[in-house]
Amino acid sequence: MPALRGVLHLCAAAQWTAALTWDTSGAYAGLGDASNATTWARVVAVDAWLRRGGPQPAHWAARGRGALGDGWAPLSNASAKTVWRTTLGGTSPVVVKALVDHARSYGSAHSRDHAREAHVTEIASEILYLELCRGLPGVPALHGGWLDAAGRPSYVVAAAGDRITTSPVGRYAALARSRPLDLAAALLECFWSFSERGGFFLDDFALSQFAYAVGSDEAVGSDGAITVSLVDAPKILAPSPAYDLLSSFPRPHAIDAAPRPCAGGDACPISHRSHCCCCEGGGGSPCVPPPCKAGSRGAPESKGLCKKGLCAPLSSATHAFDVAARAWALPFVTAASGRGKSRDARRATAFLKDLTRRLAAYDAASRPSLSDALGAVARFRRGDFSRPRAK
Ligand SMILES: Nc1ncnc2c1ncn2[C@@H]1O[C@H](COP(=O)(O)OP(=O)(O)OP(=O)(O)O)[C@@H](O)[C@H]1O
Ligand SMILES: [Mg+2]
Repeated sequence: MPALRGVLHLCAAAQWTAALTWDTSGAYAGLGDASNATTWARVVAVDAWLRRGGPQPAHWAARGRGALGDGWAPLSNASAKTVWRTTLGGTSPVVVKALVDHARSYGSAHSRDHAREAHVTEIASEILYLELCRGLPGVPALHGGWLDAAGRPSYVVAAAGDRITTSPVGRYAALARSRPLDLAAALLECFWSFSERGGFFLDDFALSQFAYAVGSDEAVGSDGAITVSLVDAPKILAPSPAYDLLSSFPRPHAIDAAPRPCAGGDACPISHRSHCCCCEGGGGSPCVPPPCKAGSRGAPESKGLCKKGLCAPLSSATHAFDVAARAWALPFVTAASGRGKSRDARRATAFLKDLTRRLAAYDAASRPSLSDALGAVARFRRGDFSRPRAK
């Protein structure tokens, strides 16, 4: 790594270490296991390793294929990654992610090299994201990784459970009916971790990017606890200190959320069709086929919103809207909880309805933060029925 880049990284490290000091007096403080300084030191070590300037991180248990079981079951082979399921240490279920074989999918050498560069950056960014957010709820534990002869990374991460499906006879629906507050909290925690706490943003917003587990189903959570995890990595929102680290990779896996001037709605970009539930160049109009499941809505700012001469930025408040406006997230849990007949069940449904409505407010500035929403769930469970703070 050139000396100047190293200095820049240390600056970013100092800044981010400061930024990682959060206010534990807030309503919600469900924090990860690593201290801030430890977290950052690990991120910097992993970054150095990815650039082939540093040793393989010592805190990883999976430092090569030899640490893993022999049976590898394929899970997917998509645009950037090939994904398998296997075991670590004989029994722990893990998922391995490696670069796809670009020779098979790209005709010209130019497009192949271009795609490979972007996908190597994507995988490197995923590894840094998992290290940066290690220990937070809904962030699968990173067990390790290795570089191939050309310096391209693969990684091993804890298996985070099953895909979410909204079938009324499925286990997710059964959880929504029997434990709506637990499931609502798990959804909010997942979004809180990667967006409000981590500073990342998921624009590639498919349901298949999430998984859920109960207790000791998988190597997540304690007995009985519900965990909702984001299994694919989000992009870093720039400007931010963590972006400084990622930006020196070619084609960084990032979204520029700096305020930009605009004269009208069409001047502002949409986030991604799967996130805004709208079409490119369509002024926020619905597209065919629909990019989102029926009943899901995208946040106003995700459709390209010009407000007082500036494009309304994407932020964790956008994800507060998303968790409240995706048919499979809080609306599904709220509807399922409404089947309960007891007084407590009716009260929980009313609480979830009110919380969902507030989180999905049109104006991003008036939505409760995700930590406020988690605080409200915790207070409701203690029998305090006050509403989440409006900002
Ligand atoms: N940690 C995990 N735990 C459980 N299942 C996982 C995990 N990681 C991935 N999966 C499963 O594998 C699927 C594919 O993984 P992932 O989303 O990382 O890759 P992808 O989106 O298919 O690849 P690409 O980035 O090339 O589009 C997920 O939809 C999920 O079902
Ligand atoms: Mg994915």
